[in-house]
Amino acid sequence: MDFLHKSSKIVLLALCGFLVGGLSTYGIAYAAEEKPAETQSAQPVTECFESRAGFSSVTRVENVDPKYGYPNVKCSQTTGAVLWWGDPFYGTIPMGEMPSINDKTRGDFANAVVKPREPQLVYFNMGPNGCKTCHDGKIVPYPKNKKPRLIGMHQDIVNNSLELMHGRGAIWCLDCHSAKNRNKLVDREGNEFSFNQPQKLCGSCHGENYIDWRAGIHGKRIGSWKTGGKKRWWVCTECHNPHTVQIERFNPLQPEPAPALPRGMKNADYERAGDGEH
Ligand code: HEC
Ligand code: HEC
Ligand code: HEC
Ligand code: HEC
Repeated sequence: MDFLHKSSKIVLLALCGFLVGGLSTYGIAYAAEEKPAETQSAQPVTECFESRAGFSSVTRVENVDPKYGYPNVKCSQTTGAVLWWGDPFYGTIPMGEMPSINDKTRGDFANAVVKPREPQLVYFNMGPNGCKTCHDGKIVPYPKNKKPRLIGMHQDIVNNSLELMHGRGAIWCLDCHSAKNRNKLVDREGNEFSFNQPQKLCGSCHGENYIDWRAGIHGKRIGSWKTGGKKRWWVCTECHNPHTVQIERFNPLQPEPAPALPRGMKNADYERAGDGEH
């Protein structure tokens, strides 16, 4: 379990804003190909993370792109983050319905996909029935009420359950996790959502952020730039750890080293010269 929760720094190329993908990612990949020979000969990194180190791992798979034969991702040799997506949709599933906002009139609704979160969760994958492998009401009894109490489990996820680092004491585990159906998230009205659709839960309390995310001002998408084109949306928990947002809202990503200078150029003085012509 250690490897999943190491507290390495996360890189996020696009904090907010619209799509990162298409040409810009190909641009980054091109720069990576230009690395000096000695770095290239090192054992290539084929396991990397997409947004949160330890919580969004991805394995490089060759030739997933039918047209050009690209791998699904290229991993950075220096930061362990994904550098480039050869197939932005590899391993994704439909995002599903959007809460409250009727997006059916907008073309991007039908073509919105996400990377499922369930395969990334340690406890979800401990047994055949997900969290219910233990939380079946017998092995672990259902909690009697929602009152915060000290629990003797999951310290790797929440160090001290009486000091949950989300909500400044106003919310607790069972405001988000269903008491009797532990495989699901739950909102204050009792609606249950899959771990793959955390935006529905987060959006129920963080309406402003949800609306911004929905509009593409908050979060990240890759894929087609076209209105109505297929896009992969990053869900809230790909960037935010719901159990530690009070300690760190978001772990900043470690930047890549500066790219190599073009062949024949000795330094970047020309670039630094100020407002001169480029
Ligand atoms: C290996 C068994 C096991 C698995 C698998 C497991 N849990 Fe638990 N969990 C426990 C135990 C035991 C407790 C109660 C500890 C106590 O009362 O001191 C607990 C307590 C909790 C609590 C506190 C509320 C309560 O019911 O006591 C939450 C929330 C929770 N687990 C969430 C999850 C989620 C979400 C998953 C799946 C992603 C999961 N657990 C999977 C064993 C497990
Ligand atoms: C604000 C909502 C929220 C609260 C409060 C909350 N959780 Fe969670 N929890 C989530 C979400 C969302 C996930 C899925 C995270 C992801 O996709 O990475 C999760 C995942 C988990 C998991 C599975 C982690 C894994 O890798 O298998 C456990 C265990 C868990 N929570 C326990 C708890 C316990 C115990 C508490 C209370 C002390 C708690 N949670 C409070 C939203 C919450
Ligand atoms: C039940 C309501 C509720 C839910 C559900 C909820 N949050 Fe929160 N969240 C809060 C409260 C309350 C705060 C504390 C706000 C403050 O300190 O002003 C908070 C704080 C935060 C912060 C820190 C904000 C800051 O200003 O520092 C982030 C980030 C955050 N939540 C993300 C999430 C994400 C991601 C989810 C979904 C996994 C989520 N929240 C689900 C109630 C909620
Ligand atoms: C691509 C990554 C990414 C995704 C996806 C994302 N966020 Fe954020 N979020 C950030 C960053 C970066 C910040 C700013 C962190 C800081 O100021 O330290 C932030 C800040 C926040 C805050 C703090 C208050 C604020 O407005 O600055 C909240 C609350 C929040 N996000 C909720 C959400 C919710 C809810 C979702 C899903 C609907 C979501 N985020 C999706 C990256 C993301």
